[in-house]
Amino acid sequence: MDVREHRLLCHLDVLIAFRYIPFNAGPRICVGQQFALTEMAYTVTRILQRYDRIENRMKAPAVFKADIVLQPADGVQLSFFQSHSEKA
Ligand code: HEM
Repeated sequence: MDVREHRLLCHLDVLIAFRYIPFNAGPRICVGQQFALTEMAYTVTRILQRYDRIENRMKAPAVFKADIVLQPADGVQLSFFQSHSEKA
């Protein structure tokens, strides 16, 4: 492999690492990333187990606010309907 090919491959590695950046990338990447993603997956799973139905109560389509991370600009209004198996 010549020097130019090597540089191109290194450049591609960096581009791929920075493709998904809610947790940053490179030397300052979030050390809690896997924990946070596991916690989020667990929380969403528990919500879906508990509620039969979730209805959107937003009066207008959601607008996003770009800050360090993307977030809903006006919160999120939902109704949760508990499933029968979780009521007991
Ligand atoms: C949704 C949840 C989370 C998001 C979006 C997030 C995001 C980030 C980001 C963007 C950075 C880089 C900051 C920088 O470049 O200076 C960071 C760093 C860090 N995060 Fe998280 N984080 C989350 C959860 C967590 C959790 C659960 C932990 C610990 C259990 C954690 C521990 C850390 C630590 C220690 C650093 C500093 C890493 C370093 O500078 O070497 N984070 N996080």
